[in-house]
Amino acid sequence: MYVRRVVGVFLVNCADAVRHHFSADAHSSRHQIKDDGAGILLFLGKIISTSGVLEIFMHPALSQIGTQMSQLTGVRAIMKDIIETLQAGKGQDFINLSAGNPVILPEVEQLWRDCTAQLLASSEYGEVVCRYGSSQGYQPLIDAIASDFNRRYGLNLTHRNILITPGSQSIYFYAANAFGGYTASGDLKQIVLPLSPDYTGYGGVTLTPEALVAYQPTLDINEASHRFKYRPDFSKLVINETTGCVIFSRPCNPTGNVLTDEEVKKIADLAASYDVPVLIDSAYAPPFPALNFTEMTPVFGENILHCISLSKAGLPGERIGVAIGDAKLIGVLECFQTNLCIHSSRYGQAIATRGINSGALADISVNVIRPYYQNKFIVVESTLDKAMPKDLPWFLHRGEGAIFAWLWLQDLPITDWDLYQELKQVGVIVVPGSSFFPGLRSEWVHKQQCIRISLTATDEEIEMGMQRLAKVVEGVYMRSPID
Ligand SMILES: Cc1ncc(COP(=O)(O)O)c(C=O)c1O
Repeated sequence: MYVRRVVGVFLVNCADAVRHHFSADAHSSRHQIKDDGAGILLFLGKIISTSGVLEIFMHPALSQIGTQMSQLTGVRAIMKDIIETLQAGKGQDFINLSAGNPVILPEVEQLWRDCTAQLLASSEYGEVVCRYGSSQGYQPLIDAIASDFNRRYGLNLTHRNILITPGSQSIYFYAANAFGGYTASGDLKQIVLPLSPDYTGYGGVTLTPEALVAYQPTLDINEASHRFKYRPDFSKLVINETTGCVIFSRPCNPTGNVLTDEEVKKIADLAASYDVPVLIDSAYAPPFPALNFTEMTPVFGENILHCISLSKAGLPGERIGVAIGDAKLIGVLECFQTNLCIHSSRYGQAIATRGINSGALADISVNVIRPYYQNKFIVVESTLDKAMPKDLPWFLHRGEGAIFAWLWLQDLPITDWDLYQELKQVGVIVVPGSSFFPGLRSEWVHKQQCIRISLTATDEEIEMGMQRLAKVVEGVYMRSPID
């Protein structure tokens, strides 16, 4: 008690000293003090009290890159609004159709529990968690992936073709900055997204924002069935000596689109003529998590970096991404990783090795993960087919994979953001679509006419959510009828 009181008095004095020090500067923009208590613990500009809080908000001078990277981009900015809405509406039952976090499926959780138990019981445990390892990744995981992919796809991968990263997001960061941006001679190498919309996370990966360029697609529309599909517009797509790298997701977050094998090969061939690496973001692709609802074959090639993620296979918290490709490209990314973070967590890598070697991960992906989300998509489409007025121009993107549905409301009289706000009023949260067009600078009204619907809610929630959405959408079009 005595020690506590002495420490308390000391800290109160510290707080007074700090308050005094900053009071002269209280109105300057560099320091602000918010003080509503005493009995304080001081720690690097943040002071937490036992009976209240006193915080100093530091405003250090930021570099250009610091300013850019300390801002939330794309969907992360919307997520802040969503979290605040959910917190403010305590008690109100929101149907949250915004989540990108995968559902914890019991079979998947059990798989990782079993792999963890095996790791804990093995003599390998100390070596895995108590020591640093190679930047390229944990050797048994590299071997497991090489042999799995060689057997499955008839490849000749060696360990030199594989890099393990802390989540696949980091691969896009390394690649966007290693291959895109300004060269030593001052030329700008672009990071090309051949089909927009695409993963919002690509919006924040480059340290040279002007390097990110996305292309508007063509739309395959089936009016009668209220379905559509995006296609790359090869008449507009430019890949040439100004291109640093190409990135796209397949299956795509947010649309569920799967580019055909021919479309992928055409993009890869265009890029190969200029020695440009093509990163195929396979976060939802087979063999794990196998979140494709349509047939698709992973495409490999000399200039292709096939990028996988174990996040949607139940390990988002362990941060495991894998880049597979030409040894020289892998070497560049590996050095980038060494500089940035040394290597990915080895615990996650060790349990992933077991899941892959036993075949259980591929098996659960096809028999548990895929049907779970595919059924959710069926609930979305069958409910919309019943609830949406036939005479309105609504179009659901064909559900070919991933964990989202993508709805386009042609000629929508309000913006996607306003629609998001109206849906909140009836207790439904979706993600406004305009956050999914990073790099697309052209004015395109379509950008404000879409929403992303997560397939992570229960069947009942999805059904009720789609019914409420149909009513709101009908009301919106009725208020301002289209000509
Ligand atoms: C298409 C796509 N790529 C990459 C990522 C990032 O995944 P990871 O957890 O492997 O970093 C996500 C995450 O949602 C995604 O949807």
